[in-house]
Amino acid sequence: MAIISSKKQPQEPNRQPEQPREVAKAPPKENLLQAEAAVDEGKQEESIRPQRFADYIGQKDLKDVLEIAIKAAKSRGEVLDHLLLYGPPGLGKTTMAMILAAEMEVNCKITSAPALERPRDIVGLLVNLKPGDILFIDEIHRLSRMTEEILYPAMEDYRLDITVGKGSSTKTRSIPLSKFTLVGATTRAGALTSPLRDRFGLIQKLRFYEVDELSKIVLRSAQLLQTSVTEDGAAEVARRSRGTPRIANRLLKRVRDYAQVKSFEEINEKVAAEALQLFQVDPCGLDWTDRRMLSVIIENFNGGPVGLETIAAATGEDTQTIEEVYEPYLMQIGYLSRTPRGRIATPTAYKHLGFKPPNEQLSLLP
Ligand code: ADE
Repeated sequence: MAIISSKKQPQEPNRQPEQPREVAKAPPKENLLQAEAAVDEGKQEESIRPQRFADYIGQKDLKDVLEIAIKAAKSRGEVLDHLLLYGPPGLGKTTMAMILAAEMEVNCKITSAPALERPRDIVGLLVNLKPGDILFIDEIHRLSRMTEEILYPAMEDYRLDITVGKGSSTKTRSIPLSKFTLVGATTRAGALTSPLRDRFGLIQKLRFYEVDELSKIVLRSAQLLQTSVTEDGAAEVARRSRGTPRIANRLLKRVRDYAQVKSFEEINEKVAAEALQLFQVDPCGLDWTDRRMLSVIIENFNGGPVGLETIAAATGEDTQTIEEVYEPYLMQIGYLSRTPRGRIATPTAYKHLGFKPPNEQLSLLP
């Protein structure tokens, strides 16, 4: 692992004196901007989760593909093809699986790879599936090898192969299963083994949401929560939500608390901005770790390129979280580039953190 030497003199950070720089304070205790669901968040999400495609905002390409697949499967009287959904956390993979089940009028059983540690966990689920049911496995890249091998014949031939006996008297028995659809979700499509990936008929990506899509989601959720939010108030929440509905809904709830305590009748742009500033949510939705990552690249490594492990050591995050959670959004908004030689902070990132970008610095030289 690369270590940042304490002897290295920090580079002059090209600071723009006229702009206050975001000081890397200690990370806030409650991370409102983390995209993974908090422990107690599942139930709260349930009350505002869209139930049908008609209520689901955004992901148009994905919805188009799935609506065709549903219509075709229904008209042939078949089950849906196995589907792999991949993309950053919080974008609605579970919601999509539940909507598929509702549209197909079947049950949806929800589990995650860490809950399927022993082979009997997956066997128990598979034998209890009814025809057409959807089995949703979150974090599917984390399945154990044995569980994965049980899934192969189950996905391909709706069959469970069970080994009975030991040593020379070992026999394999096959048990037929109901025809079902496996919906796998992962933040790391590349981490799936190819035999598993190849058994999915549909592989689809969820992308970050645009601000106007997130604004609509905020307005919809506010209505369900019986909270008054103006269009510009919703847009202010949306801009700070990292392209992620889960974060948008979480921020909305914090802003609602703020408005209630301060006796504001409605959440407009000013109220939303005030509240989110109080909760240390950056106008672009960057959190402490994002800012720390970028400022390490800029201040200690002259803007990069710098290796992932070095960034991990400097921020205290593990490399996987940086790659799967932080970098996708920073790249999406054009603050970070990933090159074969390492990560580079872009001029936009310099400006956002109050530094002068390197090319502007050069142009000031005599
Ligand atoms: N809540 C969370 N995600 C949503 C979406 N895509 N559409 C509507 N409401 C949502």
